[in-house]
Formats: sequence, C-alpha cells, structure tokens
Amino acid sequence: MRCLAIVFVCSLAMSIGCGPARQPPAATSRADGSTNAAPESKLDSQRPTGPMQPFRLDIASLPNGYRVSPQVFSGGEPHGEEAFAKLQELGVKAVISVDGGEPPVALAKAHGLRYVHLPIGYDGINQTRIAQLLRAANEAEGPVYVHCHHGKHRGPAAVAVICEGREGWTPQQAEAWLKQAGTSPDYSGLYRTVAEFKAPDPRELKGSSPLPESVAPPALIEQMLQIDEHWSHVLQGLGKTPPTDAQAEATLLREAFTELERASADRGDDFLRQLATAKAAAKLLETGLKDKAEAAVKQASAKIKQSCKDCHAQHRDQVRK
Ligand code: HEC
Repeated sequence: MRCLAIVFVCSLAMSIGCGPARQPPAATSRADGSTNAAPESKLDSQRPTGPMQPFRLDIASLPNGYRVSPQVFSGGEPHGEEAFAKLQELGVKAVISVDGGEPPVALAKAHGLRYVHLPIGYDGINQTRIAQLLRAANEAEGPVYVHCHHGKHRGPAAVAVICEGREGWTPQQAEAWLKQAGTSPDYSGLYRTVAEFKAPDPRELKGSSPLPESVAPPALIEQMLQIDEHWSHVLQGLGKTPPTDAQAEATLLREAFTELERASADRGDDFLRQLATAKAAAKLLETGLKDKAEAAVKQASAKIKQSCKDCHAQHRDQVRK
C-alpha cells in the first residue's frame, strides 16, 4: 500500500512535467499540480515536448509496467489476483490485451475491470487495428492498461499509437517511448507503424459492433501459414545484399515459433521438442545474420529447413485425421 501511495505522489509530480531522471532540483513539483508552466531550463528544453514523461512503475505483478500518461498505462501480462487489485487501485478502468493468449476476463471483472482483446503481431499494426485500439481507449471510462506478454514490444507499440491518436504525440515522441520501453529495433514493423501513424477516419473510430473481450487463438494452420510466409521472406532476403530483410524476417519467424509454442501445450512432448528445435535454429539464423557470419547463416538455414521437414513427417503427413 505504502509503495503504491508513493507511486501516486510521483505520478502527480510527473504529470506536471518532469521526468524522473531529468528533473532539475529547482523545478520541484507544485502542490496544486494544476499547471504545466514549470520554469524553462536547459534540461527542460532538451526533453521531448508534452506534459508528461512515461515513467516506470515498480510493481512486481505488472512486469515492465509504466505510467505513460494520466490515461494510459503500459506493461506485461498482469500476474494474478494481485495485479488486478493494483490496476484497480491505480484507477484503471479497462485492460487492453494485444497478446494472442486468452485474457483472464473473469479475474479482471472481479476487480471491476473490463477486458478488450485485440491481438497484434510483431510485424506492425494495421489501420483497422489502430482504429480499434483507439476506440477501446475512447470507450473505456477512464485510464487503460495496455499489455502484451512481456510488455516490451507489441504492447508499447499499441500504447504509442493510442497516444499518437489521443494525446497528440509526434512520431518522435512515439519512437522515444518505444526505446524507453525496450522495444527491440529488430521489430522494424512496430517502429514503422508509429513513424507512419495516420489518424483513423472518424467513421472507423465509431465501429458498429462491440469490441471483443476475448478472441480464440489462431488455429495451427493459420500459424503455419504465417511461419511459411516468414520463412519464404527469409529465403528471398538471403538472396539480396545486404540481407537486411532476411534478418528482420528471421526475428519474426522465431517469434512465430514462440507464439505457436505458447499455444501448443496440449500437443504432446514430441511436437514441443520439434518446435524447440525449429525455434533454436531460427535464433541461430538471427544471430548469424546479425554477426554477418556466412557459414553460420548457411548452417542455420539448413537446420530450419530440416526442422520443417521433420515435424511435418511426424505430425502432419502421417496422422491425417
Ligand atoms: C513443430 C512442428 C512443425 C514445425 C517445426 C513446422 N510445421 Fe508446418 N505444419 C505442422 C503441422 C502439424 C501442420 C498441419 C496443420 C493442419 O493441417 O492443421 C503444418 C502445416 C504446414 C503448412 C500447410 C498449410 C496448409 O495450407 O495446408 C505449411 C505451408 C507449413 N506447415 C510450413 C512450415 C514451414 C515452412 C516450416 C519451417 C520453417 C514449418 N511448417 C515448421 C507442424 C510443423
């Protein structure tokens, strides 16, 4: 409780304009918290414009948690009962998940929180999804907590477009936020989304049907089609110099295997073992491309190809139902 009270006091101080690291000693928080007109200092003129800097919450059950603005929180998957109690204390009214996993809707409801489930990939957010994210934030009657799995890549990107659409963030502010949240530059599609943000049409923001609180995970076959697409893009990219696209696609391929893994707990040990092999090979390819290690790239590509073949022989081509 005491820890949370401190968070609140800090957040008040932050909301009048000073990020924690750059706060000059003279420009301390005003008691009434009502104005943004802190004296201009050199430090102030260096920071990005806008009334508030996102700052980190230190709450174990909300990994990578940030208060990004008075209306928007960002983070990883809420861990258990305690996490939802914290969110409620923070004044959050709705939780927006952009992760593929099934959200704990009932647990959230028990704490007076509504869920909106709008999964996104690591390759960027399309315009329809951007409109839905904004709509979810508009329809929440108060602050929202936006999360993915770890709270580092997809969640922060969703937060960025929400703040670009609702809080007037510039693409530069959005990019600075992604860096602060630890979004890897390997997910160039996420960076591209925030750089090229365009406000959705007002009609798109209205929407006709309610936004879902939980959607079914994609079927195995859909995930395979994604994997197949990333793999063929890797192969195309490897044919070019420099193989920049191949590296980005290798990252997406590894993430696609990871997502499949998370949804495959009931597929048996052998399936999971084959999947782990494929994922490890994709990781090797990623590293090889980063290090420009040609032999390692060749070896890893061969391993991936073999992993597709082996798993299909065992789990696709034999046991046709
Ligand atoms: C861990 C096991 C596993 C690995 C690894 C794996 N697959 Fe699959 N794949 C499957 C299974 C099982 C199916 C059948 C899914 C179904 O029919 O529901 C499938 C189906 C497919 C399909 C058929 C989709 C269709 O329209 O019928 C394609 C294409 C595909 N995989 C591509 C790949 C590629 C490319 C790789 C490697 C980069 C790969 N897969 C790695 C298990 C795997």
